Amino acid sequence: MTIDIQNYQAEAESWNAEEIIRWGLSQFHPSVAIASSFGAEDVVLIDLAARIQPKFRVFTLDTDFLFPETYALIDQIERQYDVQIERARSRYTPGEQAAALGDGLWTREPDKCCNLRKVEPLTQKLAGLSAWITGIRRDQAPTRANARKLEDDKKFGLVKLNPLADWTWDQVWDYIRAHNVPYNPLHDRNYPSIGCTYCTRQVQAGEDMRAGRWSGFQKTECGLHAKG
Ligand code: ADX
Repeated sequence: MTIDIQNYQAEAESWNAEEIIRWGLSQFHPSVAIASSFGAEDVVLIDLAARIQPKFRVFTLDTDFLFPETYALIDQIERQYDVQIERARSRYTPGEQAAALGDGLWTREPDKCCNLRKVEPLTQKLAGLSAWITGIRRDQAPTRANARKLEDDKKFGLVKLNPLADWTWDQVWDYIRAHNVPYNPLHDRNYPSIGCTYCTRQVQAGEDMRAGRWSGFQKTECGLHAKG
């Protein structure tokens, strides 16, 4: 069954996050999954989904370069929500990448590194799905300001749901505290946006929330959410 997203897109803008997820699960499960980097938004998505139905899918792009705190949170979420996180990996181990392309690719060509460790595995993962659910919010970055709650993701060829598109950072944290959702402790240490260890740093007072991502490069996105 193919769903014409355009029939729902306008109406979906008035749905809240729970309604978007509920609709996505009812239309697409088991061919829909939450994409989770285990940042603040993504743990909210998992908690919302768990309240709707016990079985739902979550995948993570395990770049092999995630923070120990992130790996520990993955384990904790698996136990607490009784969900097996699907891990999508690069075709190269870190050692193979160094042998093929040299040490520290991320310091020289971060786009190439993101492609190998995130975009390629994502492309493969999404090829087996009809829809994916992401934690992007409009006020995260100018590149995300036009995100719709329901999208036809032309780059990857499936439906994309952004249930938190109209949420603020404060709303995310209100939810986490109100429902006691487990979160990455790095958030308490000035890491608002968390990716790989090599390409994520703490932000300083007054800096943009995404300033800690690919700091020093003219790069603000890794290609997961770029329009294609
Ligand atoms: S990124 O493109 O800059 O890395 P960001 O960290 O803001 O993205 O996360 C935005 C959304 O992309 C997350 O809410 C999540 O849905 C998805 N995402 C980002 N990184 C990953 C990852 N490693 N695994 C799975 N999904 C991810």
